[in-house]
Amino acid sequence: MQHYPFTSALITGASSGIGESMAHLLGQAGVPTVLVARRTERLEELAARYDRFEVLTADLNTVSGLAAVEARIVSDAALIDLVVNNAGFGTSGLFHEIDPDRLHDEIGLNVQALTRLSNAALRVMIPRGRGYLLNVSSVASFQPAPRLAVYAATKAYVTSLSESLHEEVRGTGVHVTALCPGLTKTEFQSVSNSEAYASSYPGFAWLKVDDVAAGGLGDVAKGKALSVPGVIYKGLTVVAGVTPRGLTRRLSSLVQRSGQ
Ligand SMILES: NC(=O)c1ccc[n+]([C@@H]2O[C@H](COP(=O)([O-])OP(=O)(O)OC[C@H]3O[C@@H](n4cnc5c(N)ncnc54)[C@H](OP(=O)(O)O)[C@@H]3O)[C@@H](O)[C@H]2O)c1
Repeated sequence: MQHYPFTSALITGASSGIGESMAHLLGQAGVPTVLVARRTERLEELAARYDRFEVLTADLNTVSGLAAVEARIVSDAALIDLVVNNAGFGTSGLFHEIDPDRLHDEIGLNVQALTRLSNAALRVMIPRGRGYLLNVSSVASFQPAPRLAVYAATKAYVTSLSESLHEEVRGTGVHVTALCPGLTKTEFQSVSNSEAYASSYPGFAWLKVDDVAAGGLGDVAKGKALSVPGVIYKGLTVVAGVTPRGLTRRLSSLVQRSGQ
């Protein structure tokens, strides 16, 4: 069984995919965890399997939902020293054809909610001299992604914010990490309407959800700034960093088109 340095955790988007997998890993390691998402039933089923798990039903795109989660993070009762900002979604398609209200919610969840909860977490962790903040970004944060344009832009924000915060908190006892997964089979593909595009990728491009979850938790525990699970994606990240931006942009566009 994995041992983690966390005494108590909070995960957003714990009702499926990467967040649910992280919740299982923390539960198996005996870390009490607050589970946040909109689907209460799923959270309750998960919470019933482990000791001292708590359900906090919240829509992070509402003022009241966000406030409830912020309040739980800063609460002095049962201190939380790991916050995982994992809830997020994407929208596949041409920018001008996508419902602007959906884009508003995508930015609201991926950017606004994550920023407020990161702020709440660091506000209490820094004076305590200890804590871990894991923000779930994406490999899409390293280059533009035509037909997933807003999603990639929100994730570029998440990686940039997290790397800046990683440096700001250096020496305080608090650690901030951006987890940047590549393709991982979860509900993400159906929610983002990217199933057709995603299915054009070969098997080796797919990461196992449990490996992504374990990689992220392991890397934030080690105090890494960036966590990129999988050898292929680690390599692609390095290549994207040294390839001229115009070429990366064109290649990204061709890859997206080939899946349409
Ligand atoms: N899967 C991939 O290929 C991939 C690759 C790179 C990065 N990521 C990132 O990984 C993170 C987790 O995604 P996933 O792949 O595990 O997808 P997922 O299975 O769709 O999980 C998304 C989670 O977010 C929650 N959520 C959505 N809207 C919410 C809201 N308004 N308020 C509160 N919770 C909300 C969902 O729960 P409810 O519906 O119950 O609220 C669900 O638990 C996301 O940030 C995603 O961008 C995924």
